[in-house]
Amino acid sequence: MANEIIQIKDLKVHYPIRSGFWNRITDYVRAVDGISISINEGETYGLIGESGSGKSTTGKAIVGVEPVTSGQIIYKGVDVTKSRNRKRLNYNKDVQMIFQDSMSSLNPRKRIEDIIAEPIRNFENLTTDQERDRVQELLDIVGMPSDAIYKYPHEFSGGQRQRIGVARAVATHPKLIVADEPTSALDLSVQAQVLNFMKHIQQQYDIAYLFISHDLGVVKHMSENLAIMHRGRLVELGSREAIYKHPIHIYTKRLLSAIPVVDVEHRAEHKKHRQQVEKEFQENQSKWYDQDGRVFPLQKVAPNHWVALPKERAQKEEEKVEESD
Ligand SMILES: Nc1ncnc2c1ncn2[C@@H]1O[C@H](COP(=O)(O)OP(=O)(O)O)[C@@H](O)[C@H]1O
Ligand SMILES: [Mg+2]
Repeated sequence: MANEIIQIKDLKVHYPIRSGFWNRITDYVRAVDGISISINEGETYGLIGESGSGKSTTGKAIVGVEPVTSGQIIYKGVDVTKSRNRKRLNYNKDVQMIFQDSMSSLNPRKRIEDIIAEPIRNFENLTTDQERDRVQELLDIVGMPSDAIYKYPHEFSGGQRQRIGVARAVATHPKLIVADEPTSALDLSVQAQVLNFMKHIQQQYDIAYLFISHDLGVVKHMSENLAIMHRGRLVELGSREAIYKHPIHIYTKRLLSAIPVVDVEHRAEHKKHRQQVEKEFQENQSKWYDQDGRVFPLQKVAPNHWVALPKERAQKEEEKVEESD
């Protein structure tokens, strides 16, 4: 049985909307509206959804840069939504983040040496020589030349900057890295390179990733478990097998049908399938969302497979899954 590294319980992040002359709070943006997932040590957990579904907010709340409205983040059995506990457990050292846009997440006025050394300085007391050795080692791990330490972010390509972002995230020997669309700004060929060395680093250091993406194709070969996010909630959650082979929620099917088909022979068939899914999505909203357009609570349909459905339909889906096995 794999060990859990982190457990997210009913996490909510709501942003107040203020309006009117008195600037009162009139409503909330429910960016994250009750999500629960648990991630195992050393695994890649995919968090997938379209733009605006609340993925980044979830990631930021987990690393502690966005305040949590309610819910719990349990790390090593302790609730780390309380900052006192985060400190005690070294949470800010153990949990790091990689951002999509390396140009704005790396300080343009700092040299690479200082960018990578920054998290080390926050948590460890190394001599200048020890620190430089560590930075060189990290650059080496991510496949960057050693003279990179004297340079600035703008002197590198997007793919190289993502490598630097990874080196910085790995610098404190974290247990979990939240990777927020780390490859979506890169060309396809560079994407593959970055994914490969992220995988390599994961194995070498036994790091778990919460891998955020809008594209189910990107995480297909990486994630052992996935959660599909929509409108601040989870519509489907389960093993790779469950999500890719037996998707149930129409929104999951829609994301899957958006993965381009390389094979020319199957293109026409795929296009037809895509149109069918889109039609079902447009026409049967009430089947998949409540009258306020909100995602239903998750129901278990198989040992590692949950779907957001009205309770009475979950039973039927459970039987279907059993039959298909
Ligand atoms: N600081 C903020 N204040 C108000 N609304 C926000 C803030 N950050 C994000 N949102 C809103 O929350 C929703 C989810 O955003 P985000 O987590 O960035 O989604 P994703 O990463 O899936 O694209 C969006 O509607 C976004 O506009
Ligand atoms: Mg985002």
